Amino acid sequence: MKTWTGIGLFIVLGMLAAFMIGFRPHFTESLPIDDEQTGLKDRIVIKFSHVVAENTPKGLAAAHFARLVKELSDDRVEIQVFPNGTLYSGDTEFAALQSGAIQMIAPSFSNMSEIEPAWLAMDLPFAFGDQQAVNAALQRELGRLLLRTLDSHKVLGAAFWANGFKQMTSSVRPLQVPDDFRELTFRIQPSMMLVSQFQALGASSVKIPFNEVYGVLKDGAADGQENTISNIASKRLYQVQNYMTISNHGYLGYVVMFNKRLWEDLPPDVQQVLQQALKETTAWINQETASMHEKQLSELKEIDGFTIHELTEGERQQWIHKLAPLYDQYEHIIGSELMSEIERPK
Ligand code: SIN
Repeated sequence: MKTWTGIGLFIVLGMLAAFMIGFRPHFTESLPIDDEQTGLKDRIVIKFSHVVAENTPKGLAAAHFARLVKELSDDRVEIQVFPNGTLYSGDTEFAALQSGAIQMIAPSFSNMSEIEPAWLAMDLPFAFGDQQAVNAALQRELGRLLLRTLDSHKVLGAAFWANGFKQMTSSVRPLQVPDDFRELTFRIQPSMMLVSQFQALGASSVKIPFNEVYGVLKDGAADGQENTISNIASKRLYQVQNYMTISNHGYLGYVVMFNKRLWEDLPPDVQQVLQQALKETTAWINQETASMHEKQLSELKEIDGFTIHELTEGERQQWIHKLAPLYDQYEHIIGSELMSEIERPK
């Protein structure tokens, strides 16, 4: 009897020990984890991928949007933001959105021109005098026509976010008059218009994803590049460039897009929350970029070895004159309907 009790005790203790060291059934691992203990089955997760740093207009807008959506949806909708191209680069994010691998992106207008040439309109040099002119155009027919080009691509264009005007930088010499561009190579975003822009200035260009710009400038594979002050500052391009010209010659903005199928499957109240959050974010970021650029420009002015030149009116007229042929060259590609919405620079 004593022997049987001993054996029984031995078996029970053995099972207990096995359970403690990890041989317990793994039913908990197959369950999703609800960190905040909100209803799991109702939670909607939207992955938003982008290529810039968190402290840039697009990075800040994405985070602001995510916060607003969480708040307005009472934590039912979660926007997961993936910055810095950690998921997809500018070259691959559109296809990922179409496939549904991610559900939200905000590519630059230049990137969109590879998908639909109509977006080249936004890369026409000196097409807009200031941010108000851009906003006004995008809120009217120009914006409507651009968004319409997305209809056949399984994506829904939902808003335009501002970054701002592009400035030129170089490591070789100051860029004041068109002749200063001769025989230099510039990194560009993918856009035929930007290829032609640098050709017209006597330079050549090379398409490089945003994440690689610093390296390419450092290695000398490109002598210069064009970008907004926030992109130049956040990527520390001033460390590998010596000159910047405040030229405001081109515009960098974003179209915020959803995967269309996801959008159509969302309940109407969730669509409404997303629209409201986008509206508020768009107004917020359009205000925010101006003061951000002003602050960053004064910081850049303090950097030793980084010389900043403001284009004079006379120099600006020379650039405009050199780049004017692009308007006729691209009219048939962009289409006359869209071109009639753009004023030629004076
Ligand atoms: C971006 O702002 O999304 C990228 C800009 C660039 O590629 O220069």
